Parts: sequence; structure tokens; C-alpha cells
Amino acid sequence: MNAPLPAWRPPAVAERMAQIESFYAMEIMREATALEQAGRSIIYLCVGEPDFVATAAVMDAADAATRRGDTHYTVALGIEPLRRAIAAFYQTRYGFALPAKRVAVTAGASGALLILFGTLVNPGDEWLMPDPTYPCNRRFVSLFGGTTKLVPCGAAENYQLTPEMVERHWGPNTRGVMLASPSNPTGTTVPAAALRGIHEAVRARGGALVVDEIYHGLTYMRDRSGTFAEEPTALELGDDVFVINSFSKYFSMTGWRLGWLVAPVSHLGHIEKLAQNLFICPSTIAQHAALECFSPASLSIYEERRAQFAARRDYLVPALRELGFRIPNTPQGAFYVYADVSALSDDSFRFCTELLHGAGVAITPGRDFGDVDAHRYVRFTYTIDIAQLQEVVLRIKAFLKK
Ligand SMILES: Cc1ncc(COP(=O)(O)O)c(C=O)c1O
Repeated sequence: MNAPLPAWRPPAVAERMAQIESFYAMEIMREATALEQAGRSIIYLCVGEPDFVATAAVMDAADAATRRGDTHYTVALGIEPLRRAIAAFYQTRYGFALPAKRVAVTAGASGALLILFGTLVNPGDEWLMPDPTYPCNRRFVSLFGGTTKLVPCGAAENYQLTPEMVERHWGPNTRGVMLASPSNPTGTTVPAAALRGIHEAVRARGGALVVDEIYHGLTYMRDRSGTFAEEPTALELGDDVFVINSFSKYFSMTGWRLGWLVAPVSHLGHIEKLAQNLFICPSTIAQHAALECFSPASLSIYEERRAQFAARRDYLVPALRELGFRIPNTPQGAFYVYADVSALSDDSFRFCTELLHGAGVAITPGRDFGDVDAHRYVRFTYTIDIAQLQEVVLRIKAFLKK
């Protein structure tokens, strides 16, 4: 007979785990779901994904790939036709000639961020990011032993970094700048001239500039003819810029886990090595399906959805202002409104909890996105239709009267 096993003691958790915080948004989500299961009516404005799904053509292409048996591993950087289609999209959308060899297809923007920071970050390196920022960015840097310096960016700066801030905060260990335009949680963009200035400041210091363009295609400025004006891509600034993008937002494919990374040619070999080791390849079925994203039929559906997002923003922002939320700058894109609640509460986390319990409206506290003014801000996500947004406004109005 075998000797009894010694008592099990949980193995030590890696020290780095102390640096990884969970999402407060998920706590609100958990509470909201529990309330809903107990019979309450809850409206969710806390989830950062479109309410739309992939187009029928994309779904058909996924079906066809599955039935053809196109379900084996692919090369790590993605199938050639998709890399070429993404590169061609830069030509049609931005008039920018992008060589397909600079494109790496990844498991969502998250996969791109993991591979990119794994390629760029040494222990002790510092990265500059705006406060507020998308929280996972900091975690990727800390996973590889780096640190993030969050630079407070208020309403006066449209919640985005400026060249002057980058110059002022750059230190001996700073290795790069990461920003998103439009941003999560603010929906604000970095003006082209400021982005150029940031790029020059980073380049002069031998650093790397990473721009997350995941909300491109979801900006709502129109030109004189009424068509949506496109934000320029940061790739136009020079061959040294790293750009992150994804099929999750504009293409409404969050769960398909597909994104891409554009990097300087000098880095593609390293990116490929790491991608092979971490992921082998991005989802094969999703890659074949995504080829259909760039067809004129699919693109016209995305543009129609973009108009719906614009209409939701144009309804929600003034309605929230009327209720007492401070929104100094109308967000230019994404599907977020970052609202200052200091006229209504001195603690935005408590405000979110009370609003959830009192009105059945789930929003995200600023705490997830930064340190400095987080207690004053909440994030609304307008990934529900206007009728539901109207219901949200009625509920908040009644809640505030109590
Ligand atoms: C700014 C930003 N970057 C990256 C991601 C990750 O997206 P993906 O689904 O492509 O991994 C998100 C998701 O919300 C985001 O808001």
C-alpha cells in the first residue's frame, strides 16, 4: 500500500501577483448580476463591448472555414491573405501604404499588448501613460518587471498626454509612451499636432511610441458632406511607431479574439518568436472569417452602426449634463462617456454602488482607470439602444431626486 500523501499546502503565488489588481467594473458586474438573478431589472452600461455582433458574411466565412477543415494551426503572425487585407485596409481607409510584413495578427489587442510589451520591456523600465488609462496596459508592463508612471491628464488636456508632459515626465529609466486615441475610458482623441509632438519627443529620447487605435472607426466628427471624418493613423508619423488594433470594437467581434499589431520591420522577428511561444497562432477560424470584414458589404454595416453610436452619444452626453454630471469635453469617439460626479457625490465608487442598488443602473467607477481624480469620475458605456438610454436617464433622474 502507498504511504498517505503529505497534507497539501497551496504553492506560493508569484510575487508579481501583488501588482495585479482586479477590475472594479467586474465587482459592479457581479453585484448587478446577483441583483438581476434576485428579480431586479438592471440596465448595463459597464461593459466595454458593442451590442452588435459579427456581420452575416463574417459568420458564413467562419462556418465555411470550419467545414473546409481550415481549423489547423497557422503561422504565428497570421495567414498571409489576412495580413495583406489588413495592410490594404490602411490604404483604403487612411491612404497610407503599409507593407503587410509589418502586420502581426494576434489574439485580440490583448494578445498584441502581451507580445509587444514582452518584446520591449526589461525589468526596471518605466513607461509613461495618461491617467486615466485602460487598466490592463499597466499590468502588461508590470508582468515583465517594468513600472508605469501615470501622468495626470485632466479635462484641460482632453484627458490625454501632451508633448510637454512627455518631456517633463521622461526620466532616466523611461523607455516609452503608450496612449490610446480615442481612449478608454474617456472617448477623447489626441489632436494630430500633439501626437506629432509626442512622437518627436519620444524619438529624440530613443524611446518607443505605442498607440492603441482599437477605437478607430468609432469617431463621430463629420466632414462637410456629412460623412464621418477618419482620425489619421499614428503610423503616418514614421516607421518606428507601434500600433495596436483589433477586430473587437469597430468590427463587433470581441469574443472571436482577433486583433493586430503593426511594428517596425526591425522588431517583427522578435515578435514572431514570442508569438510562436505564447500562442502558436491566433484563432484560425477567426482569421478566415475576418477576411470578410473588409468587404464593401460588411464595411457599410459597420458605418451604419457607427452612425447609431454617434446618435447615442449625441443623446446621452447632453442628457447626463442636464442631470448634473460634468462632461467638459464631448468625447470624440469610442462608446464611453467619462463623467465627473463631484456635483452629485464625493465618492464615485459609492455613487456607482448606490446607483446600482437604487436605480438598477450599472456603470463603472473611475477607480479602474487611474489614481488621481478617479474618485470623481464614472464611466458610462453606450452599448445599448436609445430607448434603453432614455430609460437610464429617467431612472437616474428619479434616483437623484430621492
Ligand atoms: C483601449 C483598449 N485596448 C485594448 C483592449 C483589449 O481588446 P481586445 O478585445 O482586442 O483584446 C480594450 C478592451 O476593452 C481596450 O478598451
